[in-house]
Amino acid sequence: MRYFLASKGFWLVLGAPLYYVLYQIGQVLWVRPGALGPDPAQALVTLLGEIALWMLILVLSVTPLRKVFQLLRLHGQRRAMGIACFGYALLHWLAYAALLLEWQWATLGDDLLKRPYISAGFLAGLILLAMAATSNDWSTRRLSRRWRQLHRWGYLAAALVILHVFWIARSNFFEIVIYALIVAGLLVVRWPWFIQKIKMIKDV
Ligand code: HEM
Repeated sequence: MRYFLASKGFWLVLGAPLYYVLYQIGQVLWVRPGALGPDPAQALVTLLGEIALWMLILVLSVTPLRKVFQLLRLHGQRRAMGIACFGYALLHWLAYAALLLEWQWATLGDDLLKRPYISAGFLAGLILLAMAATSNDWSTRRLSRRWRQLHRWGYLAAALVILHVFWIARSNFFEIVIYALIVAGLLVVRWPWFIQKIKMIKDV
């Protein structure tokens, strides 16, 4: 297990959603144009956004899993997961800019200022960028305590993404409630009070 987590195999697992996305693009281009539904561009943007959100949830789960279940080895892979999460968020943004806006920079700026769901997504993206850019030994040493504070902003990024998705949604609010409950649950689980209670139960 330890070998697997430290190996290239782990990166292959993190890259699995990308292979799925590439497969779907291949299907649309060469096999079945309707594979992603009537609007493949929009479907692709949504798919990449959903993958990025699930990756973010995965990253935020690492600390609670470590604190509650002592899953230390998973913690060593948090950096890879965080970078993968940022990578998918970047692909999501690139798909939006290239396929939906066709690189019209004026519309990109307008969307950012006039559509609250884009502003929320953009802020979340900036937090993910800051976290990915400081995911290296040099930044960890240099920023010390501030590094830990910065990386707690992952929860703010998740809250902004949920707001982003909430503003987009026309139906299926149930899915958004589930995302919100998962993120809230992950926050509660890392609360010192909760960890103390779990330790007490384990010690009995
Ligand atoms: C500048 C940053 C961002 C922009 C411009 C952006 C833009 C968009 C757009 C245009 C859609 C599709 C809207 C529609 O269906 O009409 C979307 C959906 C989505 N985005 Fe983003 N996004 C950004 C950041 C993010 C980030 C950082 C995440 C997650 C980490 C994210 C997660 C999602 C999800 C999950 C959906 C699907 C919502 C659904 O189920 O319909 N987005 N985004």
